[in-house]
Amino acid sequence: MRVKVRAHDYEITTERLLLRPMTVADMDAVWKWVSDERVARYMVYPTYTDKEKLREWLSSIEKFNGEYNFGYVRLSDNELIGSGSIGPSSTKEGFWGFGYNFRYDCWKLGYATEAAKAMIDFAKREFGITHFCSSHVEPNLASGHVMEKCGLHFVGYGECEKLDGTCKSRSMEYEGIL
Ligand SMILES: CC(C)(COP(=O)(O)OP(=O)(O)OC[C@H]1O[C@@H](n2cnc3c(N)ncnc32)[C@H](O)[C@@H]1OP(=O)(O)O)[C@@H](O)C(=O)NCCC(=O)NCCS
Repeated sequence: MRVKVRAHDYEITTERLLLRPMTVADMDAVWKWVSDERVARYMVYPTYTDKEKLREWLSSIEKFNGEYNFGYVRLSDNELIGSGSIGPSSTKEGFWGFGYNFRYDCWKLGYATEAAKAMIDFAKREFGITHFCSSHVEPNLASGHVMEKCGLHFVGYGECEKLDGTCKSRSMEYEGIL
């Protein structure tokens, strides 16, 4: 089920998750994973060490920036356990890219696959998108597995780095026409 809540904000309900826009009010919940090196090491953001920086980021995504950001709320206990986004790829013309991350204690329960499939379905139904891509830092095989379970396939290696230019490394690139 998809519900439009504001001009660019949507809510999506899956079997176990509510995908909804995030705000600065979510700071304490989000801090639990963005400050956790086990989660952040494979993400484009450097591990957060400063809550003010997180407030700035959450504040920035309260305005539409071209991609659809979602917090993932577990329906069983109403806890925000992860977040992700989907939107036009900055590197692959005609494709939409997506990403996700979850609190460490919520891994390996199928939540990433459930959230990613919901975001893909959202992009297909709301915007008619058919071409999707994503990528992960080479050792992050769990994420590649999620991409494959969403119907994408490995297309080759690329390069990646964090937003601050550190951690240059090889990436594995995935695409799918869905
Ligand atoms: C990657 C991440 C989002 C996966 O979330 P998740 O909810 O555990 O993913 P799912 O349970 O839906 O699926 C993971 C799959 O990978 C498999 N997997 C887990 N660890 C793995 C590993 N080290 N190697 C290979 N496969 C692995 C799981 O068994 C599962 O497959 P299965 O359902 O066939 O058993 C989560 O680990 C995370 O938040 N990591 C840190 C942030 C991150 O890396 N984000 C992605 C950046 S590209």
